[in-house]
Amino acid sequence: MATSAQIKSLLQSHGSGDDERFYATALQVAAAEARRGHQNLAVDIQKLVDQAKQRKSTPTASPNVFHVAQPHGEAAELLEAADSGWKVRDLILSVPLKRRIERIMEEQQNLSSLKQHGLRPRQRLLFTGPPGCGKTMTAAALASDLGLPLFVVRLDSLITRYLGESLSKLRIIFDTVNRTRAVYLFDEFDSIGYTRDFTGDVGEMRRLLNSFLMFIEKLTSNSLVIAATNQGHRLDKALYRRFDDLIEFGLPDADHIWETVQVRLTGIPTSKLSREKTVKAAQGLSFAEITRACEESTKEMLLRAKKTVTTDMLLTALTERRLFLNH
Ligand SMILES: Nc1ncnc2c1ncn2[C@@H]1O[C@H](COP(=O)(O)OP(=O)(O)OP(=O)(O)O)[C@@H](O)[C@H]1O
Ligand SMILES: [Mg+2]
Repeated sequence: MATSAQIKSLLQSHGSGDDERFYATALQVAAAEARRGHQNLAVDIQKLVDQAKQRKSTPTASPNVFHVAQPHGEAAELLEAADSGWKVRDLILSVPLKRRIERIMEEQQNLSSLKQHGLRPRQRLLFTGPPGCGKTMTAAALASDLGLPLFVVRLDSLITRYLGESLSKLRIIFDTVNRTRAVYLFDEFDSIGYTRDFTGDVGEMRRLLNSFLMFIEKLTSNSLVIAATNQGHRLDKALYRRFDDLIEFGLPDADHIWETVQVRLTGIPTSKLSREKTVKAAQGLSFAEITRACEESTKEMLLRAKKTVTTDMLLTALTERRLFLNH
Protein backbone atom coordinates (compact mmCIF):
# COMPACT_ATOMS: atom_id res chain seq x y z
CA MET A 1 0.00 0.00 0.00
CA ALA A 2 1.15 3.50 -0.78
CA THR A 3 1.69 5.70 2.27
CA SER A 4 -0.45 8.79 2.72
CA ALA A 5 2.62 10.95 1.94
CA GLN A 6 3.01 9.10 -1.36
CA ILE A 7 -0.67 9.50 -2.23
CA LYS A 8 -0.38 13.21 -1.46
CA SER A 9 2.71 13.48 -3.63
CA LEU A 10 0.98 11.64 -6.50
CA LEU A 11 -1.99 14.00 -6.33
CA GLN A 12 0.13 17.13 -6.03
CA SER A 13 2.41 16.18 -8.92
CA HIS A 14 -0.56 15.18 -11.08
CA GLY A 15 -2.27 18.49 -10.30
CA SER A 16 0.79 20.59 -11.11
CA GLY A 17 1.71 18.56 -14.22
CA ASP A 18 5.05 17.57 -12.67
CA ASP A 19 5.46 14.25 -14.49
CA GLU A 20 8.96 13.53 -13.20
CA ARG A 21 7.79 13.68 -9.59
CA PHE A 22 4.68 11.68 -10.40
CA TYR A 23 6.72 8.84 -11.95
CA ALA A 24 9.34 9.00 -9.21
CA THR A 25 6.65 8.61 -6.54
CA ALA A 26 5.03 5.75 -8.43
CA LEU A 27 8.42 4.02 -8.56
CA GLN A 28 8.85 4.63 -4.85
CA VAL A 29 5.57 2.81 -4.26
CA ALA A 30 6.78 -0.03 -6.51
CA ALA A 31 10.05 -0.26 -4.59
CA ALA A 32 8.20 -0.43 -1.27
CA GLU A 33 5.97 -3.20 -2.61
CA ALA A 34 9.00 -5.12 -3.88
CA ARG A 35 10.51 -4.92 -0.39
CA ARG A 36 7.33 -6.39 1.04
CA GLY A 37 7.70 -9.31 -1.33
CA HIS A 38 4.95 -8.15 -3.72
CA GLN A 39 7.11 -8.68 -6.81
CA ASN A 40 4.29 -8.90 -9.33
CA LEU A 41 2.68 -5.69 -8.18
CA ALA A 42 6.06 -3.90 -8.24
CA VAL A 43 6.72 -5.04 -11.80
CA ASP A 44 3.18 -4.05 -12.86
CA ILE A 45 3.66 -0.52 -11.50
CA GLN A 46 7.06 -0.28 -13.19
CA LYS A 47 5.51 -1.35 -16.51
CA LEU A 48 2.72 1.20 -16.18
CA VAL A 49 5.28 3.95 -15.54
CA ASP A 50 7.27 2.84 -18.58
CA GLN A 51 4.17 2.85 -20.76
CA ALA A 52 3.07 6.27 -19.51
CA LYS A 53 6.55 7.70 -20.16
CA GLN A 54 6.60 6.22 -23.63
CA ARG A 55 3.30 7.87 -24.46
CA LYS A 56 4.61 11.17 -23.09
CA SER A 57 7.84 11.04 -25.07
CA THR A 58 5.97 10.40 -28.31
CA PRO A 59 5.01 13.90 -29.29
CA THR A 60 1.27 14.25 -29.16
CA ALA A 61 -1.15 17.06 -29.57
CA SER A 62 -1.70 19.04 -26.42
CA PRO A 63 -5.48 19.19 -26.20
CA ASN A 64 -5.66 22.45 -24.24
CA VAL A 65 -3.70 24.72 -26.51
CA PHE A 66 -3.86 22.79 -29.70
CA HIS A 67 -7.53 23.55 -30.30
CA VAL A 68 -6.89 27.25 -30.51
CA ALA A 69 -3.64 27.05 -32.36
CA GLN A 70 -4.09 24.07 -34.61
CA PRO A 71 -2.70 24.77 -38.05
CA HIS A 72 -5.17 24.11 -40.81
CA GLY A 73 -5.02 22.40 -44.16
CA GLU A 74 -1.63 21.50 -45.52
CA ALA A 75 0.23 23.13 -42.62
CA ALA A 76 -1.22 20.54 -40.26
CA GLU A 77 0.65 17.85 -42.21
CA LEU A 78 3.95 19.70 -42.06
CA LEU A 79 3.96 20.71 -38.42
CA GLU A 80 4.20 18.13 -35.69
CA ALA A 81 2.69 19.28 -32.41
CA ALA A 82 4.77 18.28 -29.41
CA ASP A 83 4.09 18.66 -25.72
CA SER A 84 6.50 17.26 -23.19
CA GLY A 85 5.61 19.09 -19.99
CA TRP A 86 9.22 20.22 -19.41
CA LYS A 87 9.76 23.53 -17.64
CA VAL A 88 12.79 25.84 -17.84
CA ARG A 89 13.48 25.04 -14.18
CA ASP A 90 13.99 21.36 -15.14
CA LEU A 91 16.92 22.21 -17.40
CA ILE A 92 20.34 21.42 -16.01
CA LEU A 93 22.57 24.00 -17.65
CA SER A 94 25.57 26.13 -16.80
CA VAL A 95 24.62 29.39 -15.11
CA PRO A 96 25.45 31.57 -18.15
CA LEU A 97 23.42 29.35 -20.48
CA LYS A 98 20.48 29.25 -18.10
CA ARG A 99 20.59 33.05 -17.87
CA ARG A 100 20.44 33.32 -21.62
CA ILE A 101 17.41 31.05 -21.77
CA GLU A 102 15.77 33.14 -19.04
CA ARG A 103 16.59 36.33 -20.95
CA ILE A 104 14.75 34.94 -24.00
CA MET A 105 11.79 34.20 -21.73
CA GLU A 106 11.84 37.68 -20.23
CA GLU A 107 11.97 39.38 -23.59
CA GLN A 108 9.06 37.27 -24.83
CA GLN A 109 7.09 38.12 -21.70
CA ASN A 110 7.69 41.85 -22.15
CA LEU A 111 7.06 42.19 -25.84
CA SER A 112 5.00 45.35 -25.72
CA SER A 113 7.38 47.38 -23.58
CA LEU A 114 10.32 46.41 -25.78
CA LYS A 115 8.40 47.20 -28.93
CA GLN A 116 7.25 50.55 -27.56
CA HIS A 117 10.90 51.50 -27.46
CA GLY A 118 11.51 50.21 -30.96
CA LEU A 119 13.43 47.18 -29.69
CA ARG A 120 13.15 43.78 -31.29
CA PRO A 121 12.80 40.91 -28.83
CA ARG A 122 14.94 37.82 -29.35
CA GLN A 123 12.89 35.44 -31.41
CA ARG A 124 15.27 33.79 -33.89
CA LEU A 125 17.44 31.27 -32.10
CA LEU A 126 20.09 28.81 -33.19
CA PHE A 127 20.66 25.77 -30.93
CA THR A 128 23.74 23.61 -31.50
CA GLY A 129 25.28 20.77 -29.51
CA PRO A 130 25.62 17.01 -29.24
CA PRO A 131 22.57 14.72 -29.16
CA GLY A 132 20.74 14.38 -25.86
CA CYS A 133 21.99 17.63 -24.34
CA GLY A 134 18.84 19.71 -24.20
CA LYS A 135 18.05 21.34 -27.56
CA THR A 136 14.57 19.87 -27.95
CA MET A 137 14.00 19.93 -24.20
CA THR A 138 14.78 23.67 -24.07
CA ALA A 139 12.45 24.41 -26.98
CA ALA A 140 9.72 22.46 -25.18
CA ALA A 141 10.43 24.16 -21.85
CA LEU A 142 10.31 27.63 -23.42
CA ALA A 143 7.00 26.80 -25.06
CA SER A 144 5.56 25.41 -21.87
CA ASP A 145 6.69 28.33 -19.66
CA LEU A 146 5.43 30.86 -22.20
CA GLY A 147 2.12 29.02 -22.46
CA LEU A 148 2.64 28.50 -26.20
CA PRO A 149 2.28 25.37 -28.32
CA LEU A 150 5.43 23.75 -29.70
CA PHE A 151 5.56 22.68 -33.33
CA VAL A 152 8.45 20.69 -34.76
CA VAL A 153 9.53 20.65 -38.40
CA ARG A 154 12.16 18.08 -39.29
CA LEU A 155 13.96 19.71 -42.16
CA ASP A 156 15.65 16.53 -43.36
CA SER A 157 12.34 14.72 -43.77
CA LEU A 158 10.73 17.81 -45.30
CA ILE A 159 13.38 17.69 -48.01
CA THR A 160 13.22 13.97 -48.66
CA ARG A 161 9.43 13.79 -48.48
CA TYR A 162 8.77 16.77 -50.67
CA LEU A 163 11.71 16.80 -53.02
CA GLY A 164 11.20 19.56 -55.59
CA GLU A 165 8.31 20.99 -53.56
CA SER A 166 10.08 21.79 -50.31
CA LEU A 167 10.17 25.53 -51.03
CA SER A 168 6.42 25.82 -51.35
CA LYS A 169 6.03 23.71 -48.19
CA LEU A 170 8.36 26.04 -46.31
CA ARG A 171 6.23 28.97 -47.40
CA ILE A 172 3.13 27.25 -46.00
CA ILE A 173 4.94 26.63 -42.72
CA PHE A 174 5.98 30.27 -42.39
CA ASP A 175 2.42 31.40 -43.18
CA THR A 176 1.48 29.56 -40.00
CA VAL A 177 4.50 30.91 -38.08
CA ASN A 178 3.27 34.41 -38.91
CA ARG A 179 -0.36 33.67 -38.20
CA THR A 180 -0.14 31.57 -35.04
CA ARG A 181 2.15 32.58 -32.20
CA ALA A 182 3.96 29.47 -31.05
CA VAL A 183 7.44 28.00 -30.67
CA TYR A 184 8.59 26.48 -33.97
CA LEU A 185 11.54 24.11 -33.78
CA PHE A 186 13.26 23.50 -37.13
CA ASP A 187 15.22 20.38 -36.31
CA GLU A 188 18.16 18.94 -38.29
CA PHE A 189 18.92 22.45 -39.49
CA ASP A 190 22.28 21.33 -40.89
CA SER A 191 20.41 19.58 -43.70
CA ILE A 192 19.82 23.03 -45.22
CA GLY A 193 22.39 25.08 -43.30
CA TYR A 194 25.25 23.11 -44.75
CA THR A 195 25.47 23.65 -48.46
CA ARG A 196 29.15 23.76 -49.25
CA ASP A 197 30.61 20.72 -51.00
CA PHE A 198 27.11 19.62 -51.69
CA THR A 199 26.97 17.44 -54.73
CA GLY A 200 23.23 16.72 -54.89
CA ASP A 201 20.65 19.23 -56.00
CA VAL A 202 22.49 22.23 -54.58
CA GLY A 203 20.01 24.53 -56.28
CA GLU A 204 16.99 23.47 -54.26
CA MET A 205 18.99 23.34 -51.02
CA ARG A 206 20.44 26.82 -51.50
CA ARG A 207 17.07 28.23 -52.37
CA LEU A 208 15.58 26.57 -49.32
CA LEU A 209 18.24 28.05 -47.05
CA ASN A 210 17.90 31.51 -48.62
CA SER A 211 14.11 31.37 -48.25
CA PHE A 212 14.41 30.26 -44.64
CA LEU A 213 16.73 33.18 -43.89
CA MET A 214 14.42 35.59 -45.68
CA PHE A 215 11.38 34.29 -43.80
CA ILE A 216 13.03 34.69 -40.41
CA GLU A 217 14.24 38.16 -41.37
CA LYS A 218 10.68 39.20 -42.13
CA LEU A 219 8.73 37.58 -39.31
CA THR A 220 5.51 39.43 -38.68
CA SER A 221 4.42 37.56 -35.56
CA ASN A 222 5.83 37.08 -32.08
CA SER A 223 6.51 33.40 -32.67
CA LEU A 224 9.83 31.97 -31.54
CA VAL A 225 11.74 30.32 -34.36
CA ILE A 226 14.43 27.88 -33.26
CA ALA A 227 16.81 26.18 -35.67
CA ALA A 228 18.55 23.20 -34.05
CA THR A 229 21.36 20.90 -35.10
CA ASN A 230 23.77 18.47 -33.54
CA GLN A 231 26.13 19.15 -36.44
CA GLY A 232 26.96 22.76 -35.55
CA HIS A 233 30.47 22.43 -36.94
CA ARG A 234 29.00 21.82 -40.38
CA LEU A 235 27.14 25.11 -40.47
CA ASP A 236 28.40 28.03 -42.45
CA LYS A 237 29.51 30.49 -39.74
CA ALA A 238 28.07 33.34 -41.84
CA LEU A 239 24.65 32.02 -40.82
CA TYR A 240 25.15 32.88 -37.16
CA ARG A 241 24.53 36.59 -37.58
CA ARG A 242 21.10 35.89 -39.05
CA PHE A 243 19.94 34.75 -35.60
CA ASP A 244 19.31 36.80 -32.45
CA ASP A 245 21.01 34.27 -30.20
CA LEU A 246 23.25 31.24 -30.57
CA ILE A 247 22.96 28.73 -27.73
CA GLU A 248 25.70 26.12 -27.72
CA PHE A 249 24.69 23.13 -25.59
CA GLY A 250 27.41 20.80 -24.35
CA LEU A 251 27.96 17.48 -22.60
CA PRO A 252 27.46 17.66 -18.84
CA ASP A 253 30.49 18.46 -16.68
CA ALA A 254 31.12 16.65 -13.36
CA ASP A 255 28.66 18.82 -11.40
CA HIS A 256 25.94 18.41 -14.00
CA ILE A 257 26.48 14.64 -14.22
CA TRP A 258 26.01 14.40 -10.48
CA GLU A 259 23.00 16.75 -10.51
CA THR A 260 21.37 14.69 -13.26
CA VAL A 261 21.85 11.49 -11.25
CA GLN A 262 20.44 13.11 -8.11
CA VAL A 263 17.41 14.47 -9.93
CA ARG A 264 16.69 11.26 -11.81
CA LEU A 265 16.95 9.13 -8.69
CA THR A 266 14.82 11.45 -6.55
CA GLY A 267 12.41 9.34 -4.57
CA ILE A 268 14.22 6.10 -5.43
CA PRO A 269 15.95 4.38 -2.48
CA THR A 270 19.71 4.43 -3.04
CA SER A 271 22.72 3.31 -1.04
CA LYS A 272 25.31 6.00 -0.44
CA LEU A 273 26.36 6.57 -4.04
CA SER A 274 29.97 7.39 -4.86
CA ARG A 275 30.06 10.72 -6.63
CA GLU A 276 33.61 10.17 -7.81
CA LYS A 277 33.00 6.77 -9.41
CA THR A 278 29.69 7.83 -10.93
CA VAL A 279 31.13 10.97 -12.48
CA LYS A 280 34.06 9.01 -13.87
CA ALA A 281 31.79 6.38 -15.44
CA ALA A 282 29.48 9.01 -16.93
CA GLN A 283 32.21 11.21 -18.39
CA GLY A 284 31.47 11.92 -22.04
CA LEU A 285 27.87 10.67 -21.88
CA SER A 286 24.97 13.00 -22.63
CA PHE A 287 22.23 14.02 -20.20
CA ALA A 288 19.91 11.69 -22.09
CA GLU A 289 22.25 8.70 -21.65
CA ILE A 290 22.77 9.39 -17.94
CA THR A 291 19.01 9.68 -17.50
CA ARG A 292 18.59 6.36 -19.25
CA ALA A 293 21.23 4.71 -17.04
CA CYS A 294 19.39 5.93 -13.92
CA GLU A 295 16.17 4.42 -15.22
CA GLU A 296 17.92 1.15 -16.06
CA SER A 297 19.43 0.85 -12.59
CA THR A 298 16.04 1.57 -11.01
CA LYS A 299 14.55 -1.24 -13.09
CA GLU A 300 17.37 -3.50 -12.01
CA MET A 301 16.58 -2.76 -8.37
CA LEU A 302 12.88 -3.51 -8.87
CA LEU A 303 13.22 -6.62 -10.97
CA ARG A 304 15.94 -8.18 -8.80
CA ALA A 305 14.04 -7.21 -5.62
CA LYS A 306 16.98 -5.22 -4.30
CA LYS A 307 16.42 -2.72 -1.53
CA THR A 308 18.36 0.13 -3.10
CA VAL A 309 20.12 1.33 -6.21
CA THR A 310 23.82 0.90 -5.52
CA THR A 311 26.88 2.55 -7.05
CA ASP A 312 27.72 -0.73 -8.79
CA MET A 313 24.28 -0.96 -10.40
CA LEU A 314 24.61 2.60 -11.64
CA LEU A 315 28.14 2.01 -12.94
CA THR A 316 27.02 -1.09 -14.83
CA ALA A 317 24.15 0.83 -16.44
CA LEU A 318 26.44 3.73 -17.38
CA THR A 319 29.01 1.37 -18.88
CA GLU A 320 26.27 -0.35 -20.87
CA ARG A 321 25.13 2.98 -22.29
CA ARG A 322 28.69 3.75 -23.34
CA LEU A 323 29.16 0.35 -25.01
CA PHE A 324 25.82 0.75 -26.73
CA LEU A 325 26.84 4.14 -28.12
CA ASN A 326 30.23 2.91 -29.31
CA HIS A 327 28.70 0.12 -31.31
N1 LIG B 1 20.30 20.02 -20.08
C1 LIG B 1 19.52 19.00 -19.67
N2 LIG B 1 19.05 18.99 -18.41
C2 LIG B 1 18.28 17.97 -17.98
N3 LIG B 1 17.92 16.91 -18.74
C3 LIG B 1 18.35 16.87 -20.01
C4 LIG B 1 19.16 17.92 -20.53
N4 LIG B 1 19.45 17.63 -21.81
C5 LIG B 1 18.85 16.46 -22.09
N5 LIG B 1 18.18 15.99 -21.01
C6 LIG B 1 17.42 14.72 -20.97
O1 LIG B 1 17.66 14.04 -22.21
C7 LIG B 1 16.45 13.95 -22.99
C8 LIG B 1 16.77 14.20 -24.46
O2 LIG B 1 17.22 15.54 -24.62
P1 LIG B 1 16.88 16.42 -25.90
O3 LIG B 1 15.73 15.80 -26.65
O4 LIG B 1 16.70 17.82 -25.50
O5 LIG B 1 18.18 16.22 -26.76
P2 LIG B 1 18.64 17.03 -28.06
O6 LIG B 1 19.76 17.93 -27.68
O7 LIG B 1 17.45 17.64 -28.71
O8 LIG B 1 19.23 15.82 -28.94
P3 LIG B 1 19.14 15.54 -30.52
O9 LIG B 1 20.30 16.27 -31.13
O10 LIG B 1 19.32 14.04 -30.60
O11 LIG B 1 17.81 16.00 -31.02
C9 LIG B 1 15.51 14.98 -22.37
O12 LIG B 1 14.16 14.62 -22.59
C10 LIG B 1 15.92 14.94 -20.89
O13 LIG B 1 15.35 13.82 -20.24
MG1 LIG C 1 16.39 17.17 -30.42
